[in-house]
Amino acid sequence: MIIIKAGGSAITDKKLPFSIKAHALENMAHALADVKEDVILCHGGGSFGHPLAIKYNIKGNITTQEQKIGISHINLAMRNLSNIVCETLIEAGCKPFALQSSACMTAANGMLETFNSDLVKKTCEKGFIPLLYGDAVHDSKTGFSIISGDQIMKHLAITFPNSRMIFLTDVDGIYTADPKRDKNAALIKEVPFSKLSSINAGGTGDVTGGMKGKLSEIIKLKGLVSEILIINIEKEDALPYALKGENPGTRIY
Ligand code: IPE
Repeated sequence: MIIIKAGGSAITDKKLPFSIKAHALENMAHALADVKEDVILCHGGGSFGHPLAIKYNIKGNITTQEQKIGISHINLAMRNLSNIVCETLIEAGCKPFALQSSACMTAANGMLETFNSDLVKKTCEKGFIPLLYGDAVHDSKTGFSIISGDQIMKHLAITFPNSRMIFLTDVDGIYTADPKRDKNAALIKEVPFSKLSSINAGGTGDVTGGMKGKLSEIIKLKGLVSEILIINIEKEDALPYALKGENPGTRIY
């Protein structure tokens, strides 16, 4: 099993609300059209989810009318993004089958609590690519909350042990510092899980936490996956190489 997370920054332009990086999406779709192994695809919120979460103050207890309207907007925006991902995959010759996260997952205090992963298994068994995404979901403590694609990845890692995971980003892998801010930042080709916590990869103000936030989620995958690759989807060859077992970015083992 290969489980892929398409980061929100990789497939949308986070500086411009509701904007798509069409070229990156097409690169991903064409690479997936040729793959023989079972694949699960999960994507983030990017410019569809995060600006709305900030605008409507989606954190803690969801009690105000304004916050509830925000939940409806996020629910719609994430379905819209998922539709665009689905359309691009179908045009490239893939068979995606979107599983709306809000309809098969719930959370408790912002942490994924229930997940009908049987739907994911059945979708794979029938030769389709299950498509999941970070989303606003029912929360047993706060009313609603946002679960990130990375939380979903952890759950998938437990459900499908020893899978390979590929994280698609808009940078070449993990750097010694934030490559968008520091020109001395150097790419790390390989790193064991045990050294991951000492890397200061830089962060952004996302509701679910930038590359540093991603690494803190990735650390939780230790012992569950066979390896993780973090690669750049803007480079046309990167995903095809990664799907063949090569390392075009950073490998975590
Ligand atoms: C966030 O998912 C989903 C919403 C904001 C609704 P992620 O946290 O996985 O999104 P990215 O990859 O950082 O954009």
